[in-house]
Amino acid sequence: MNAQKTWIHAAWRMGLASGMMVWVSACFGDGLQSTIQPESDSARVVQDVYGLVTWITGAIFLLIAGLLFWVVLRYRASAHNRDEIPHQTHGNTTLEIIWTIIPALILIVIAVPTWQGIFRSATPPANALEVEAIGHQWWWEFNYPEQDVRTAGELYLPLGRPVVVRTTSIDVIHSFWVPKLAGKFDSLPGKWNIIWFTPERTGVYYGQCAEFCGTSHANMRFRVRVVSEEEFERWVADTRLPPAPLNTDALAGQQLFTTKICITCHTIRGNPLAQGVLGPNLNNLSMRSAIGSALFENTPDNLAAWIQNPQALKPGTLMGISYKDAHGILRYKPIEMTEAEAQQLAAYLLSPPGDEALAAALRPMLEEAPPAAGGAEADLAAQSPQLDGAAIDAATVDPLVQKGICWACHVIPGIQNATGQIGPSLAGFASRPQIAEVIPMNRENLLRWLEDPQAIKPNTGMPAAAALSAEERVRMVEYLLTLK
Ligand code: CUA
Repeated sequence: MNAQKTWIHAAWRMGLASGMMVWVSACFGDGLQSTIQPESDSARVVQDVYGLVTWITGAIFLLIAGLLFWVVLRYRASAHNRDEIPHQTHGNTTLEIIWTIIPALILIVIAVPTWQGIFRSATPPANALEVEAIGHQWWWEFNYPEQDVRTAGELYLPLGRPVVVRTTSIDVIHSFWVPKLAGKFDSLPGKWNIIWFTPERTGVYYGQCAEFCGTSHANMRFRVRVVSEEEFERWVADTRLPPAPLNTDALAGQQLFTTKICITCHTIRGNPLAQGVLGPNLNNLSMRSAIGSALFENTPDNLAAWIQNPQALKPGTLMGISYKDAHGILRYKPIEMTEAEAQQLAAYLLSPPGDEALAAALRPMLEEAPPAAGGAEADLAAQSPQLDGAAIDAATVDPLVQKGICWACHVIPGIQNATGQIGPSLAGFASRPQIAEVIPMNRENLLRWLEDPQAIKPNTGMPAAAALSAEERVRMVEYLLTLK
């Protein structure tokens, strides 16, 4: 009697748990990252294999669980068979052959479409649009080699054209995953993996890094926007243009973009000072629906809050001022600025893309030396046409270090705020046999290095010293060569 009660109880609980699982999966099945609502050919191939495996294993589960249930009920102990031992069987060659062959056949049935899907994913059609998805801690960079544009966080794709995504990583292992469109490919440092699919419906799709990659792994999201062919072409054209400030706030923000050291890490094509390579490209931010690796909707207030304190919104973010904590671990803290300044920066970044004529008109303004903190700009002007044999020491070079923002990444002897930890310390710099471990240390090479480090060492995090004039770079070289 008691045994029967326990049975009913257990069966009821199992039924409840299964029901809840079905209910939960049905709810999430409607979500933006559903794997069971494919919206592309490749996602459907995955879904078909998934469906097949689910039906087969479901049938096996019902068969085995049913048999088990029947055996347990049929041979349970009861008042009239307590001392009875059922008929015992040992070894049955026919049965053993049958239960070897059936699972082997089932595995073959599953293996054939699986292998077909794998080979299909490795052979994209010839007319596919090529996109590079590069994982960084903790954001996605998207490059379009054919269109020669670069963006981050939001992948634009034309409707109906196959796209082949080549993915790699700049640091640790990430994984590219857009459940409704394609899934899931590891992004490995030093290796390119490919996946391809054809988007079949316009709209926004949600992607997510699917490999644990550190503090903000769960925040490493992105969006895919599938748009018409014409809209895609317009987006490409706009992405080549810099944001064009249309009001005084945005203009002030453009200046701050240099003085608040954003240019150390960010590129804005069309803004000659912004050539940083460590952070996301910021062209066409006004057209992105989300910011902060697709964590927040793209509004001026959200963007200003993000600029002012990214670490508060996304733990561990590698944005701001670098320093080493008590344990010697590299960390970042927000750049000091007022709320008004953050709003101005947001206004600049969210300015609509300007045409070439407008960008050309703005260029002289951009190239004008930005005001540096503490009147350093005035000092610089006073010292300017030099290289007259006067001693070049830390004191005279300090304004250049401030203007060129060298301090944000390097420790520089004698320069008080130069405590950056992203790049190597420059103590004893001139005694090193090579620059960046690639070219011999000499005056000429050092100048080339400051002018265009990417040309000498592709993928270096060092940006061109674009904020410095040619003459200022020469002075900087002379100074660096004194650091023995
Ligand atoms: Cu990148 Cu997880």
